[in-house]
Amino acid sequence: MTLTVEQAGRALADPKAYADDRRLHDALTLLRREAPVHRVEAPGYDPFWAITRHADVLEIERAHDLFLNAPRPLLATSELDKLNRERAAQGIALRTLIHMDDPDHRVIRAIGADWFRPRAMRALEPRVRELAKRYVDRMVDLGGECDFAQEVSVHFPLYVILSLLGLPEGDFDRMLTLTQELFGGDDGDRRRGQSNEDKLQVLLDFFAYFKELTEARRAHPTGDLASAIANARVDGEPLNEFDTASYYVIIATAGHDTTSATIAGGLHALVANPRELARLRADPALMPLAVDEMIRWTTPVKEFMRTAVRDYELRGVTIREGDSLLLSYPSANRDEDVFDDPFRFDAGRDPNKHLAFGFGVHYCLGAALARIEVRAFFEELLPRLRSIELAGEPEGIATTFVGGLKRLPVRYKIT
Ligand code: HEM
Repeated sequence: MTLTVEQAGRALADPKAYADDRRLHDALTLLRREAPVHRVEAPGYDPFWAITRHADVLEIERAHDLFLNAPRPLLATSELDKLNRERAAQGIALRTLIHMDDPDHRVIRAIGADWFRPRAMRALEPRVRELAKRYVDRMVDLGGECDFAQEVSVHFPLYVILSLLGLPEGDFDRMLTLTQELFGGDDGDRRRGQSNEDKLQVLLDFFAYFKELTEARRAHPTGDLASAIANARVDGEPLNEFDTASYYVIIATAGHDTTSATIAGGLHALVANPRELARLRADPALMPLAVDEMIRWTTPVKEFMRTAVRDYELRGVTIREGDSLLLSYPSANRDEDVFDDPFRFDAGRDPNKHLAFGFGVHYCLGAALARIEVRAFFEELLPRLRSIELAGEPEGIATTFVGGLKRLPVRYKIT
């Protein structure tokens, strides 16, 4: 059956489409070609414009004074959008960097920014390498076969980010469950329950944990990122309870599933492309390029949204004031106008102007850290890897937000 543009547009609001790479990319390729600025009316969702070309995603991100993150920073059902608006009006909603615009965004982003600069990254790198080794050793302990997504890649980035925050290892399992419940989004296997109340409860559990943390770090600052957030002052005042908790939530969540998805997706790409694996092993200097190709290939963040503050003309289409736009990163990263042979995994791709980290004022705060983590992991794994193959069908996560592989069964020999 031939796919119509309308069906392709609706796939963007269908979590299951994201678990099926082929289905997703058939839809995105059609939209890029036939309707790059396409209005989507999907049941259960407020309408939005799907922006699928690389150049257009860039144009919208650049014009951050015309296209705001608030009030609809990411795709949610109409029901959840409404609930979020009500909670925001009562001052009990999550208010992270991705929910904010200038001037607040600039001030709040600056609180954490130093922790992600090259100096801080250099200081953290030995710990990242130690953790990478721990997880490759774990693969050895697992006896030559494992579900890489469930047993390895999901843990390593969480440990890194919790180390950066300065949380005790004893709390890591609890954080793993909470971040997955919050981010698993639409995937039944990862969700605590079906209802909006269940989602709210996960958020409240997060807040309760971080409230305790804030109090502890205010009483006894320990020189970690959690202390910097707890003791930050804006106009001489500490952040309120929700803004503090929101900061922890964005760091803990944004820094976790994204990088796990890249490591699992990157390994899958190498297994599926043995020549690229051999090329990378033969020439380890390619690693930085390979890391960015893994990030482009997996594009773990599927979308962010913007809202127009005034009418705007894009490719001859009039976007009206108040309209929402969905920036499709997986689509931008397969754009034929920007990437040669975009559906080929090329470990040495150069240039590679992918938009997986977004662009402009909201550009991913953790991009350098993510690159260090992915690189450290594969620099530890590849020299020790004797062989690797699939031991079952990989399975994707059904989510319109952050996703990748939920299962990656592999069989391997590692020294
Ligand atoms: C924002 C992707 C890893 C923290 C973002 C954005 C994207 C993204 C697309 C939104 C950019 C925009 O709106 O233009 C990714 C990918 C990652 C990754 C693909 C891994 C491969 C990390 C890590 C951290 C992190 C390790 C560490 C804490 C953040 C934060 C923001 C953000 C705090 C909000 C920035 C803002 O709104 O000013 N990320 N991210 N991310 N990311 Fe990442």
